[in-house]
Amino acid sequence: MPASRPGRLPAPAALRLPPGPYLTLCCILAMQLFTVPAIATAETPPAAAIASAHPLATAAGIEILNAGGNAFDAAVAVSAALAVVEPGSSGLGGGGFWLLHRDSDGHQIMIDGRERAPQAATPALFIGPDGTVLRERLMDGPLAAAIPGVPAALDHLARHYGRLPLSRSLAPAIRLARDGFAADDKLTAMIRFRLDALRRSPAAAALFLVNDGPPAPGHIIRQHDLADTLQQLAQHGRDGFYRGPVARRLLDGVRAAGGIWQDSDLQHYQVVERAPLHGVYRGIKITAAPPPSSGGIGLLTMLNILSRYDLDRLPEATRIHLISEAMRRAYRDRAQYLGDPDFVAMPVERLIDADHAAAVAASIHLDRATRSTELPEVAPTTAGDGPDTSHFSILDRDGNRVAATLSINYPFGAAFVAPGTGVVLNDELDDFVIQPGTRIGYGLGGGAANLIQGGKRPLSSMTPTFVESDHQLAILGTPGGSRIISMVVLATLQLAAGQQAAAVVAAGRYHHQFLPDVISHEPGAIAPGVAATLQGLGHQLEATSRPYGNMQLILWDRRQRRVEAASDPRGIGAATVIPAIAATKP
Ligand code: GLY
Repeated sequence: MPASRPGRLPAPAALRLPPGPYLTLCCILAMQLFTVPAIATAETPPAAAIASAHPLATAAGIEILNAGGNAFDAAVAVSAALAVVEPGSSGLGGGGFWLLHRDSDGHQIMIDGRERAPQAATPALFIGPDGTVLRERLMDGPLAAAIPGVPAALDHLARHYGRLPLSRSLAPAIRLARDGFAADDKLTAMIRFRLDALRRSPAAAALFLVNDGPPAPGHIIRQHDLADTLQQLAQHGRDGFYRGPVARRLLDGVRAAGGIWQDSDLQHYQVVERAPLHGVYRGIKITAAPPPSSGGIGLLTMLNILSRYDLDRLPEATRIHLISEAMRRAYRDRAQYLGDPDFVAMPVERLIDADHAAAVAASIHLDRATRSTELPEVAPTTAGDGPDTSHFSILDRDGNRVAATLSINYPFGAAFVAPGTGVVLNDELDDFVIQPGTRIGYGLGGGAANLIQGGKRPLSSMTPTFVESDHQLAILGTPGGSRIISMVVLATLQLAAGQQAAAVVAAGRYHHQFLPDVISHEPGAIAPGVAATLQGLGHQLEATSRPYGNMQLILWDRRQRRVEAASDPRGIGAATVIPAIAATKP
């Protein structure tokens, strides 16, 4: 397996953009990006907090904190509970990134539990006789399924960071799977959306359908096989999933239905501990996800560009214009350069340094939108909102933190359950490029760096993040497919402007991802007068059919000795501060 590490490479040709009219009007701050030493915080928070996308998952985390667990044990409990109660959004068949801060020594790390392609995966498997990509093979059924990362990550978290045994942290999820939980509106809507694909997997249909159709909200979903699989993980750690009876059932189920998994794919799956990326925006320290997430690079590139402008003093239309221009440029970089760091060399440091920001900002005009076609060309893209995927944030009373974003790639992933396992397999192979230049998952463009290859991790947009000033710490993230990164950028700018947790998660959202050349926005997020000004600058605007995102945010204000937690009002999640203050879900 080729293994090369990211490092400082010569500036790629495409980064040397032609000089444009240089904006000095608002250029007041230069962003500095450097490796920020990990430091233990001098004080501990006055309360613990958990914000997750489902009240039962938040409750599972609280149970584990109350049982003496730390934030990392609670992260195991919340991840596993989400696998049970949000099976269309994350789960044991999926992957994720857990960004950790251990306060006793300031150790910060990202647990990369991203799925890997099975060794037998090749581009040819997904290209038809006429040379076109067979999209359905990347979406539905076991051929689309990547090797799961979540079970190994939970074992790793418990063994290296937790205080409690896996058997204790997994207990709430096992109980939920056996006793059942009431299906909510969001889940039944997702089942309806994936009905045809779920019907084709008898084990999935048996779990999630009633009379061959979606269940009514309130229907109790019990998952005995999943409870048994979690029990195996609880008893035997990672071997309980990647070897032994569960592995056998996974392999038999996948292969009987036309998939390509082999014993060695499961046995060799490993999580990777990766050093987070760091940057500073207006004195605020950003700690974010490194590749194979594109999130940290995208976030830091955009903030780096935006730190050149005094955004707070600008009219709203100008602010949205500049933020959209920064998004346009960072998403262009994503498509061109990024992939699995264990397989491809990427100019990571170059992309997040101030010189690169200066180079790309030079082509931004204050008085007109750039056409994406004016920038160096990369593959075409279209937007996707991603109702799947899940994020949670945790702060414990010792100051340990977790920001974790977990993914089932499309609602219910591959919509395939291996018989006898209860595990929804994930069509994460759809996040790879099959042919450079063609559209991939969420319509994001991509090049050779993210080309499918056995053992490789697909590029992700998941962006678990810490945002920390001298007096305030935020732990945040969201699902949302290609829009994840732009949502975290908007939230970071709102935090920098002093907004409170509830306001940040509720704020209207907009997004630009290079191609299509359009600012997509939530209905009502851009006022008509502001929209008219943006159109006058040459932007095309498009309202999304519905709101998007499901941000989970914890904010610890050290000066005021206050912890707030907020769960996105677009979802059904629960944010709880323990012990003093009640839930702050807006
Ligand atoms: N599956 C969505 C992502 O990882 O970005």
